[in-house]
Amino acid sequence: MLNMGDAPAGASRGSRFEHPLNYYRLTMNLSARTVLVTLVAAAVGLAVAVGAARAVKPDTVTVPKYEPVHPTSDAPTERRPVGAVGCMAAACHGAPAGELLNGRSGPDTWAASGSCWAAADPHTAAYSLLTDRPRRSVVVTAARIMAKYRPGVKATDDARCLACHTNPTLAELPATTEVVALREQGVSCEACHGNAGQWIQPHTGWTGDRAQVYRETGLKPLYDMGERAVTCAGCHVGAPADGSNPVRDMNHDMIAAGHPRLNFDFAEYQRRLPKHWHEKERTSGAAKLNESQVWYVGRLAHAETACRLLGSRAQRTEANDARTVWPEFAEFNCAACHHNLRAPEEDGGHWRKSAEYLDGRPIGSTPWQTIWPVTHAPGLPQPRRATSEVAALVRLMEGETGQTWPDGRPKVLRFAKAPDAKGLALATADALAAARREAAAGTKGPPPGLFPAGAPLVPEWDSAEQLFFGLAAREYARGAPAAGTVQKYRTGVDAFRARDWLKVKDVFTGLR
Ligand code: HEC
Ligand code: HEC
Ligand code: HEC
Ligand code: HEC
Repeated sequence: MLNMGDAPAGASRGSRFEHPLNYYRLTMNLSARTVLVTLVAAAVGLAVAVGAARAVKPDTVTVPKYEPVHPTSDAPTERRPVGAVGCMAAACHGAPAGELLNGRSGPDTWAASGSCWAAADPHTAAYSLLTDRPRRSVVVTAARIMAKYRPGVKATDDARCLACHTNPTLAELPATTEVVALREQGVSCEACHGNAGQWIQPHTGWTGDRAQVYRETGLKPLYDMGERAVTCAGCHVGAPADGSNPVRDMNHDMIAAGHPRLNFDFAEYQRRLPKHWHEKERTSGAAKLNESQVWYVGRLAHAETACRLLGSRAQRTEANDARTVWPEFAEFNCAACHHNLRAPEEDGGHWRKSAEYLDGRPIGSTPWQTIWPVTHAPGLPQPRRATSEVAALVRLMEGETGQTWPDGRPKVLRFAKAPDAKGLALATADALAAARREAAAGTKGPPPGLFPAGAPLVPEWDSAEQLFFGLAAREYARGAPAAGTVQKYRTGVDAFRARDWLKVKDVFTGLR
């Protein structure tokens, strides 16, 4: 009856500029190979994406004119959003973006940051996706999602949708003309950099301790790779409500209604953004990270964000939030429920049943989301779930007795609320946060054994995908992948397609 969903939405688009949506299917038809194919398309397509960026001729770029927006008195006065217009003056961040769009940044890049975003960033379309006039082609329209998810409600009126498709702090404000105008700017400057109310004036000339000034005024320290990854993950993974941000929750209800599931990889997504900045050290000391390290920091941020979201889901069901259910299916590996059943004698039919695959988990239990099993570096969370820093939470989610579900929530809740620290889910996140700060500060080298021998022979599709992103990051850390390397990846994908698992393993472990 159930087949597994295949192509991960974001992961599968070859180029941010063209959105070749033919890769990107929401039908529930599992074929892990498709996943790998699309993943290869994503990574290999990067070259294409870069090419596309180069193809933009500076003189064809026009920066849209923004009408000034004056937020109503209803808008929070503290850390008020000012809108992109506040940033786009020619003398500020609205200078011609030519060089930047050609992929060349430099010390003066800041002057063209806003123009670059306006001309080329996919986030400009974010709000339009909720309307009946999406600014890029889509496979699933908001109307179709809403018809199943909340019949009769418009996506542009639902704070749950707005929370990720515009500046989150605007999602729950009354929909005045001004607020709607701000929302229409999509995921614009302040969605990432923080509302500018308190920093727009001082940031043009401040000196002193940057981190402190940033903290005091609400300007996000995106120069810190960990903070940056967590910021992106807030919308690309999800996040609990905090401060003036409402909850951002991509749950199974939305996915089943047709929303693309959010398969995020920080390193890959960052590579796909037209960078409107010059990567530089804004504090002191920390070395520039290579792509492999960026990937690793992203993995930790992803795990941290997911733990926080889990805690928030438990808390919301406890508080009888009408829009939160427990168990939340999106917590679990999709392949646990959606997969093609195979006879053991069939090709590859053995993969789900091996002890190695189960890794100590009771058979019949739903594996928790596969976000860290391939993560491995000395002193950091271990690849095997049983020995990872989040082992206790993993055991809880997967059921020591295979019976998690009926009583899982109160236990997660107890962890989330434990008086000592912030509870396991969150304390674990703190440990992970410390680890990612260390990794981002460059005090740890690139993780040496990225892909431990113990990795499942035939990973299910989520793991295969994460593995692939890691491999791709490693290639990029070495420089642009050579033609021979790309060819090897192709061979690996073909083997995946033919379900020749041994060859798949051969090819990918052979990529040293
Ligand atoms: C406030 C929410 C939000 C934040 C924060 C955010 N994004 Fe997004 N992002 C979105 C939405 C919504 C879309 C869909 C827009 C589209 O596809 O046109 C998107 C699209 C993208 C895409 C295009 C995906 C594709 O399939 O082509 C990339 C790449 C991306 N984001 C990277 C990032 C990175 C990197 C960060 C952090 C620096 C980030 N995003 C922060 C909400 C957000
Ligand atoms: C947790 C953040 C989040 C929430 C909540 C969210 N979205 Fe999205 N949405 C995204 C991101 C990110 C993308 C881009 C997917 C990608 O490329 O990774 C997206 C893509 C889309 C698309 C484009 C689909 C396509 O075929 O390309 C539509 C339409 C959409 N969202 C509508 C909605 C609606 C309607 C809701 C509310 C029911 C909603 N979104 C809630 C983050 C979110
Ligand atoms: C998807 C998230 C995101 C959005 C949206 C976004 N930025 Fe950025 N921006 C970043 C990241 C990440 C950096 C790198 C941080 C750093 O180096 O300090 C950055 C850096 C910058 C810089 C520093 C450039 C440099 O080289 O010194 C400026 C200026 C800037 N952004 C302006 C803007 C403006 C203006 C907008 C809106 C028109 C905007 N940003 C929208 C994520 C975002
Ligand atoms: C615990 C089991 C379970 C898990 C885990 C699970 N699902 Fe589902 N899913 C279901 C059930 C049950 C249905 C409803 C099937 C029906 O109505 O026929 C469903 C329905 C769906 C549908 C709608 C299918 C249709 O034909 O309308 C989609 C899409 C979907 N799931 C995607 C996912 C994704 C993506 C994941 C992982 C993030 C996931 N599911 C995780 C059990 C699960």
